[in-house]
Amino acid sequence: MATVNENYLKLPGSYLFAEIGRRVAAFKEAHPEADIIRLGIGDVTQPLPAVCIDAMHKAVDEMAKAETFRGYGPEQGYDFLIEAIRHNNYVGLGIEIAANEIFVSDGSKSDCGNIQEIFGVDNKVAITDPVYPVYLDTNVMAGRTGELKEDGHFEGITYLPCDAENSFSPDLPNERVDMIYLCCPNNPTGTTLSKEELTKWVKYAKENKSVILFDAAYAAYITEADVPRSIYEIEGAKEVAIEFRSFSKTAGFTGTRCGYTVIPKAVKGLTKEGKTVEFNKLWNRRHTTKFNGTAYIIQRGAAAIYTPEGQKQVKELVGYYMENARIIREGLKAAGIEAYGGVNAPYIWLKTPNNMPSWDFFDKLLTEVNIVGTPGAGFGPCGEGYFRLTAFGDRENTLRAIERIKNKLHF
Ligand code: MLT
Repeated sequence: MATVNENYLKLPGSYLFAEIGRRVAAFKEAHPEADIIRLGIGDVTQPLPAVCIDAMHKAVDEMAKAETFRGYGPEQGYDFLIEAIRHNNYVGLGIEIAANEIFVSDGSKSDCGNIQEIFGVDNKVAITDPVYPVYLDTNVMAGRTGELKEDGHFEGITYLPCDAENSFSPDLPNERVDMIYLCCPNNPTGTTLSKEELTKWVKYAKENKSVILFDAAYAAYITEADVPRSIYEIEGAKEVAIEFRSFSKTAGFTGTRCGYTVIPKAVKGLTKEGKTVEFNKLWNRRHTTKFNGTAYIIQRGAAAIYTPEGQKQVKELVGYYMENARIIREGLKAAGIEAYGGVNAPYIWLKTPNNMPSWDFFDKLLTEVNIVGTPGAGFGPCGEGYFRLTAFGDRENTLRAIERIKNKLHF
């Protein structure tokens, strides 16, 4: 009989959002009349910007004629999208990134999950706690950890605790690590790292020859000047950082799927014999072997956000969700609940009232006021006692949810 990859057996039963879905479905079955408001998974609710729709319609028409039909495209992405990304998100900020350092994909969840394949299995991994589960779970699957311990941590991982006490800004690890996952603006805490804080990480990575895996999927939500939109704003980062970006939260592409990863050629790793190798080369090899490119229609839609009209529409879309974030943040405050984030990010990270365990608070919110959120403990042991609400709901539901929390939730 074929054997299985036993690393998978180290993981808890189901992916966090699958578990939430299961619990909500069970509640809905038992209470079909319940008017449930979903502020759990960070999925967008507003339609794609009109510029994207127009560009995609046009691309569909191109696919209908032999002269303009496209089959396989370049695995790394079409030049029109790569150049638009390069100029708008990097060169315009004074950051020199070459076209062959950008890889377009079907979204940054896949890239954040797959990137670990090009690193040695013996690498020591550091992740924040709480953390977006994809970074951790994919390293468990790859065999870069030991077993799950009773305290909820995996053996062999260096955890960087983030809580209100350190303002959700992790301290540098006490030991040397090879791969460091940072997410800024952060999912789940909705908080950010300043230029000074990121500079500290880049310096650590350079001194320790580590690589920072920087997830900037929520960069479009940054409002404050001191928060870097890209890690490459930090001097020296091009030698030590890989950056993940996404159209999902920027322009509503969660269903249509498009993202990209930047791997500067200067980011290198070692072979066992001590030879240096560019990670860019390895990712290119992986991408061309395992991926056949994001659909042309989708890439046309994504490129449309970089037109002047597209920029305006994206700004409005992000502004819509950020207004929801403000409503949630201020509503929670009015309800006497301590909350963080929501200023540079579409997530609000609240302290559960009376230190209630976060899954208990999940059940309370669901059963008493029919609101779905995400328990902090689902993101790691340091998330215990916290709870995440997303600003990606529609306005009416966001307002209704906050009214219910203020007026109907008793604690
Ligand atoms: C979340 O709710 O954390 C996000 O939807 C995760 C994701 O983008 O994959």
